Amino acid sequence: LRDKYISLIADAADETAIEELRVQAVGKKGEIALKMRELGKMTPEERQVMGPKLNALKDEINSALLAKKAALADAALDERLKTEWLDVTLPGRGRRQGTIHPISQVTEEVTAIFADMGFAVAEGPQIETDWYNFDALNIPGHHPARAEMDTFYTHRAEGDNRPPHVLRTHTSPVQIRSMEKLGAPIRIICPGRVYRADYDQTHTPMFHQIEGLALDKDISMANLKWVLEEFFTAFFGTSVKTRFRASHFPFVEPGAEVDIQCSWEGGSVKVGEGDDWLEVLGSGMVHPKVLQAGGIDPNEYQGFAFGIGIDRLAMLKYGIPDLRAFFDSDLRWLRHYGFAS
Ligand code: PHE
Repeated sequence: LRDKYISLIADAADETAIEELRVQAVGKKGEIALKMRELGKMTPEERQVMGPKLNALKDEINSALLAKKAALADAALDERLKTEWLDVTLPGRGRRQGTIHPISQVTEEVTAIFADMGFAVAEGPQIETDWYNFDALNIPGHHPARAEMDTFYTHRAEGDNRPPHVLRTHTSPVQIRSMEKLGAPIRIICPGRVYRADYDQTHTPMFHQIEGLALDKDISMANLKWVLEEFFTAFFGTSVKTRFRASHFPFVEPGAEVDIQCSWEGGSVKVGEGDDWLEVLGSGMVHPKVLQAGGIDPNEYQGFAFGIGIDRLAMLKYGIPDLRAFFDSDLRWLRHYGFAS
């Protein structure tokens, strides 16, 4: 019995064969168990000799089984090591990481700078009523500004005579919403998407603005100028001269367009040097009618508002010539400007 199993175990080809042999030899109904049962029929003397012998045999077979199992596992590992290999000196395969879009990044940069100056972030809907987008901002129905803004109107069902909603053409409606919600004094900025039917190298039908509004008892245009210069210097990382040009927006009086100092050399713009000017925002002192529309007493409070084009700022800061590329979602473009890995 012993020689039979020892040689069978030595010849076993794999773990399944080992397991079969185990059941056959030392299992509950295996050959050794059968022999053990026969002990009962023996004389006590015979039993005293055979019992320990059987136990020793059982132990021997068990160890042989274990040893063979370990040897098979070693052999399998050797085989794998021969066929598979790993060169730990090869460079790792990099994983591409998602990155933030340039417009989101610039929005965050701008927001952080104004937050340092005490401006809280406000938000408003992108689909607006024409009251918030126009009337409350002193742009009545017949006003040419409505046509100039190339407004997108939403469609109403036939027979529904309510005025249509519009895709907001600027972030200025958030001025009114914030006045209603927070009252005065107030200091907020509102970054967000705006829409106009316009498309060329420097215009996309959807673009981004950041609105600013500061109201208190004695806020003046000088405060506006300081805040904007402070902002441009922080944003571009260099001191930037500004130029205020009188301009007209129905919701401010007086109103000004603000240009920043730049140079055009070899087709690229450099901000903060040179004798050229680039328009970057509209601003002014909030019109008394607008304060009233927002529920604020113009005899008690006054202040300034401005609206900056975020996309324009991003183009300037990162030297990007075509605005449309921002919204093509072309990874090669994003990588080229360092906005994707
Ligand atoms: N809403 C104006 C625009 O979109 C910008 C602006 C904001 C002007 C606030 C004055 C005050 O052009």
